[in-house]
Amino acid sequence: MSSLHQARLWALFTVLLSVFSLAAQAAVPASTYVGMGSSSDAKDNVTVSVNVPSDSTDSLFYHFSGPSAQTWAAFGIGHQMSGALIFVTYASEDGNNVTVSPRLGVGHVMPQHTSDVTVDVLSGSGIVNGSFVVNAKCTGCRSWSGGSVNVNSSSQNFIWALGPSGTLKSDDTSATISQHEGYNFFNLNLKDATGTGGVPIVSNSTTDDNLNDGPGFGGHVNPGVAFHAFLMVAAFLVVFPTGYLALRVFERVWLHWGVQSFALLMVCVGSAAGIGVSIRQSLTPSLKSGHQILGLVVLALALTTWTVGLIGHRIYKKTKTPAKIMKGHRVLGPSTILLGLVNCFVGFNFASNNHGVIVFGIAMLLMFIIVGSLTFFNRRRKMRKGAMNTPAAFNFREGGMESGNGGPPPPLYGEGGIPLQSYANTPPVYR
Ligand code: HEM
Ligand SMILES: *[C@@H]1O[C@H](CO)[C@@H](O)[C@H](O)[C@H]1NC(C)=O
Ligand SMILES: *[C@@H]1O[C@H](CO)[C@@H](O)[C@H](O)[C@H]1NC(C)=O
Ligand SMILES: *[C@@H]1O[C@H](CO)[C@@H](O)[C@H](O)[C@H]1NC(C)=O
Ligand SMILES: *[C@@H]1O[C@H](CO)[C@@H](O)[C@H](O)[C@H]1NC(C)=O
Ligand SMILES: *[C@@H]1O[C@H](CO)[C@@H](O)[C@H](O)[C@H]1NC(C)=O
Repeated sequence: MSSLHQARLWALFTVLLSVFSLAAQAAVPASTYVGMGSSSDAKDNVTVSVNVPSDSTDSLFYHFSGPSAQTWAAFGIGHQMSGALIFVTYASEDGNNVTVSPRLGVGHVMPQHTSDVTVDVLSGSGIVNGSFVVNAKCTGCRSWSGGSVNVNSSSQNFIWALGPSGTLKSDDTSATISQHEGYNFFNLNLKDATGTGGVPIVSNSTTDDNLNDGPGFGGHVNPGVAFHAFLMVAAFLVVFPTGYLALRVFERVWLHWGVQSFALLMVCVGSAAGIGVSIRQSLTPSLKSGHQILGLVVLALALTTWTVGLIGHRIYKKTKTPAKIMKGHRVLGPSTILLGLVNCFVGFNFASNNHGVIVFGIAMLLMFIIVGSLTFFNRRRKMRKGAMNTPAAFNFREGGMESGNGGPPPPLYGEGGIPLQSYANTPPVYR
């Protein structure tokens, strides 16, 4: 074989090899999420792409990037901090590469480094053009103390978070990080990401399953949860109490019926939203947490109260006498509202929203003051009206002692009445 021949064969071989390796790379299945991180600039995006190697039961490959203008960037497997396996990335001590620290979320405190999970940082990683870039293989990362990943899931829950801006340079995987400035939630289809193992290749032209989710930085609100909370808080804090006033102060049964029916509708839609997000986003999908159980009880109570009220009013219309079951309505109504308000507190607690607990507490106090004082003044007004019609009041009027508004001014003391002494100049002398 001539050397020319050999060279040609080598060239062919190399071409074939690179074609094969390209094909192999393309064959690495992955599921990718791109979300807006600290700004709409592409370098500040948060990208998470995961590959599930089918020939392994305890490893995953991932590509991650986030803005390096923040002290740290992280993503985690799980639907909230608690129970999540979190991969925190920050600059290495020399500032040229990245340190990746696998940590376990234990609540709203700094996640703790775990040595049960190993992360191999692979080529292509570093701090590139204003972004942390991580290509990695993790081992021991399919289940951990507190949780596991469901590689069969078409919507596995993930979270990401970004630290405050600045630089944190450390090679220590237990380095102290300070609380995030922003975070968000997303899902990845891991079923579709299963196959040949390898680091996922994310090109900016890929249109993957899960591109972007709108702003996440600062606006860390779960829209489904927010919709649920808005409807429930509005119903129990504003609409139900208004319906109460419609009856007790404005004394309009039809208005009471209309307002309470609207509030009930809000509660039904809000409950559906709550059940929906609980199941779809795996926020206690068994519906067995205190907030969820109490919520279902309140929903049942609200429906019962409404039905009893309707039946009671029908009976009253027919018989012209108050129905006995209206007593039930008068107990059920306020209890439902009270329990609903209690469950708003429990809900804010369930979502670990301390701010919400405080704001809601103040708003609830205001509501009680407003409803209470309107009811009180209305009652007093009625009692006064009632007082005018008592025998004593008639007697009073008969006696001709007209005083107050409309009557003649009282006689001036000193004008033929009791002589007045000027206390200002000469104090009275007691003998
Ligand atoms: C020093 C470390 C950390 C502290 C002190 C901390 C603290 C907190 C606090 C107080 C909240 C509630 C905030 C609110 O109600 O808006 C929260 C929520 C959250 N954090 Fe962190 N965090 C830390 C690190 C991380 C990391 C590394 C991640 C990585 C993904 C993360 C992801 C989240 C997410 C997704 C939420 C919302 C869901 C949930 O309630 O758990 N956090 N964190
Ligand atoms: C960062 O470290 C990884 C693993 O050691 C290496 O493959 C990569 O080339 C490094 N990146 C830079 C920019 O040095
Ligand atoms: C960094 O960004 C500049 C301009 O956006 C671009 O020209 C350059 O190729 C980028 N470098 C890398 C390593 O991506
Ligand atoms: C995922 O699916 C595979 C086969 O399709 C099965 O062997 C495995 O037990 C499943 N895992 C879970 C967590 O459902
Ligand atoms: C990816 O983005 C870079 C700049 O950020 C650009 O130069 C490059 O052409 C893009 N690649 C594709 C495939 O769109
Ligand atoms: C960065 O994120 C924004 C918002 O999600 C998205 O519109 C944009 O296409 C992303 N940029 C890249 C390069 O993926």
